[in-house]
Amino acid sequence: MDALTPMLRQYRQVKADHPDAILMFRLGDFYEMFFDDALSASKALSLTLTARGRGTANEAPMCGVPYHAADGYIARLVGKGFRVAICDQVEDARQARGIVRREVTRVVSPGTLTDPAHLAAREPNFIAAVVRDPAPAGRPGAGGFGAAMLDLSTGDFRVVEARGAGAAETLLDRLAGFGPREIVHPEGVNPADLLPVDRLGEPLFTAVPSWRFATDTAYRILTERFGTASLEGFGCEGQDLAIRAAGALLGHLKDAQKAGLRHITKMQVHEPGDGMGLDAVTRRTLEIVANARDAGRDGTLLEVVDRTRTAMGGRLLRDWLLRPLLERAAIEARLDAVALLVDRPAERVAVAAALDRVHDLERLLARAVLGTANGRDLVALRDSLRALPDLAARALPLAAPLFTRLLGGLDVLADLEARLGAGLADEPPLSVREGGLLRDGFHAEVDELRTLRRDSQSVLAAIETRERERTGITSLKVRYNRVFGWSIEISNANKRPVPDDYVRKQTLVGGERYITPELKELEHRLLTAEERLQILEYDAFVALRDEVAGTAARIRSTALAVATVDALLSFAITAAESGWRRPAMRDDGRLRIVEGRHPVVERILRGERFVPNDCLLDTADRQILILTGPNMGGKSTYLRQVALLVLLAQAGSFVPAAEAEVGLVDRIFSRVGASDNLARGQSTFLVEMNETANILNNATPRSLILLDEVGRGTSTFDGLSIAWSVAEHLHDTPAVAARTLFATHYHELTELALTKPRVRNLRLLVREWNDSIVFLRQVVEGAADRSYGLQVARLAGLPPAVLERAREVLHNLEADALQRDGRPRLARHAGGDGGRPGVPATPAQPPLFPIEDDPIVAAIRAASIDGMTPVQALMFLADLKGKLDGEG
Ligand SMILES: Nc1ncnc2c1ncn2[C@@H]1O[C@H](COP(=O)(O)OP(=O)(O)O)[C@@H](O)[C@H]1O
Ligand SMILES: [Mg+2]
Repeated sequence: MDALTPMLRQYRQVKADHPDAILMFRLGDFYEMFFDDALSASKALSLTLTARGRGTANEAPMCGVPYHAADGYIARLVGKGFRVAICDQVEDARQARGIVRREVTRVVSPGTLTDPAHLAAREPNFIAAVVRDPAPAGRPGAGGFGAAMLDLSTGDFRVVEARGAGAAETLLDRLAGFGPREIVHPEGVNPADLLPVDRLGEPLFTAVPSWRFATDTAYRILTERFGTASLEGFGCEGQDLAIRAAGALLGHLKDAQKAGLRHITKMQVHEPGDGMGLDAVTRRTLEIVANARDAGRDGTLLEVVDRTRTAMGGRLLRDWLLRPLLERAAIEARLDAVALLVDRPAERVAVAAALDRVHDLERLLARAVLGTANGRDLVALRDSLRALPDLAARALPLAAPLFTRLLGGLDVLADLEARLGAGLADEPPLSVREGGLLRDGFHAEVDELRTLRRDSQSVLAAIETRERERTGITSLKVRYNRVFGWSIEISNANKRPVPDDYVRKQTLVGGERYITPELKELEHRLLTAEERLQILEYDAFVALRDEVAGTAARIRSTALAVATVDALLSFAITAAESGWRRPAMRDDGRLRIVEGRHPVVERILRGERFVPNDCLLDTADRQILILTGPNMGGKSTYLRQVALLVLLAQAGSFVPAAEAEVGLVDRIFSRVGASDNLARGQSTFLVEMNETANILNNATPRSLILLDEVGRGTSTFDGLSIAWSVAEHLHDTPAVAARTLFATHYHELTELALTKPRVRNLRLLVREWNDSIVFLRQVVEGAADRSYGLQVARLAGLPPAVLERAREVLHNLEADALQRDGRPRLARHAGGDGGRPGVPATPAQPPLFPIEDDPIVAAIRAASIDGMTPVQALMFLADLKGKLDGEG
């Protein structure tokens, strides 16, 4: 250790406090990384790896980035999931005795990124904390989970607590909805033991000391932050687990991350009642805000409806789609507002124009609070505030109660606008330390110094003139020299006695240089003016920035109002431009759609026309619709289109249909059979069944369920049996009798309609043309009689020989068919192995079809054995056998 250079020793000390971060260590004009950090960073950033102290015992791998370009590199490291600690020089190198003091000034991690250049403007960036209270022995279900979710870039802060049976699942669904990029958990707890974390994407996990999760500590941190005596006002009093997670999160950010938190002005309990619960699978299969392919925005519902003008409006709209409303009044309020704008094209344009002038108030505020906002950020804020009166004036005449409420009392923050207007230069530089930030007339001393700087030339010229007169030396010059500063130069030719206040400073070949107290004073002021200006401007700027931070609560509520107007306008623009209609909301279980379209598929169809389809579901006699039809017929599209339409309606949007009546849905469940979803890479039958179990355990009669080829992930008979019994269960169990759309390739399922009164069959119409088929994409009543698999295969270009052989095999299989009890005939006469792989030979499947329909069974039932003679009985038996043989 002793052999270490003082610098390396200092490095080691700092690094010891940040073992899990890449440490960027300021040395001169560079941030350097050493040892393992250098290895990781050089790889992640494609930097050249060098070494410090090469050939010595202290040789250290090293790489570095120039300090002025550091932000980009930091963001790239964080984007790759690293945590980065930035260690700066915290004293002036000129004043330092020995080695310059260095400290970590900030730690950046995926969940604490706030630089707009490195965040997706229209997506939130959440960091979460999770804590678990294990169930005490003997009382399973008494434990629970608490979680807190914070978007540091906007101040959006929510908490949730889940207790009792299914708590882990509930919490996971809520948490997944926020897509946290980082999760804070108590030290010593393996996150995988807390939750099935693999379902949360790939967040960075951060262990923090477990005392941060102590109830008292957490409670104190929260009440201190909000300046309240209790947490009553936030509705989470008594929710200890939620409070522990929330307090730990803020404590960690404040102390360890040194983050400003003043923009976090409230904490919201994230109630399931706030919005419709959409579990992670449903969100994914419906492709609401992220597509199934690469989780991007392409091909999502959000992409189609997002016409917002501001980033905060974009984030709010996204939130609306992920949490549609449950209360009719709230839905109607949004629909009223949208309807009004749909009818008024001129107002749409005017409101949009006002919104275009508003920047991201939430993130600008956050940057002010975090102390990272620069002059341009505050100018953007100022300009945004200037657009607000106009926005209010444009939108106010829109007589929908929602607009009136949002904009009637809109706080346009005129006082703050005035301060920023008076204080800020119009085009401040990026740097906050090099002056040029303030407007003239805002700060007396700044003005004076600027005048001094500007006037220095004429001041010096005036001195020169005056001194020439005073001395009578006409060639006297006031000159600047880099080494000696300002001085009076007198050439030897003109040498004569100089005034007493002249002090000789330097003798030149041809003359002398003098200084005077006045000149020295002026020089001092000139040289320090620049430095002083920079400091004064910086301080005044920071004070202004603090004023902004101090207005956090008001800015946040204004931002929310603006975002809401923006999101409503976005719905209106989409509706007006795409010819969408207002849905009629209902309290009963009816769902009627006339000429509905899939909002996304409709757009991406090239050349082909999207065929609109109707739908009628209703809890009284059309509760379950079984949809059959060939592969590629349009089943999945139809299912999703119905769900997306409901989702849009309850988010407050118009819908892509000629007419729609939507009986409120409390939850949408959407499941896709495993084999339809191989791309997901985890498509095991088990996953499929987990998801199905989740529906059967959580659906209510007000839910909407989509089952797309469920049961497909296993063998035919298993799958069919499961599909059958799931449908039966949804029909027969009042507690889960939800409106259900079931797309299946098991035609056998259509027979459910024969015995279950609320089950109806639908099929996708195709036209057969010789050996080929044409998809008509039209949904009609009735069951498909066959699957047209060979025709579809032909369309796909399977070689004719293969198709020919397939037709032969199909014929044989169909001739052999199934027994009425669902057992394949082969199982009988082949004695356990009929040479057909994959078909279970012996175990009997439960009967799937009502054997009552069988003429043989009917004959046996009808026969009165008592009244038969033995010969008659024998003839009856022979007759039955004849029938059976004839059938085969
Ligand atoms: N109503 C429709 N109008 C036009 N094209 C449609 C329609 N529904 C589906 N399609 C097209 O058919 C393709 C297959 O539909 P999909 O729903 O996946 O069929 P299935 O689930 O029956 O196999 C879709 O990708 C889409 O291009
Ligand atoms: Mg499908």
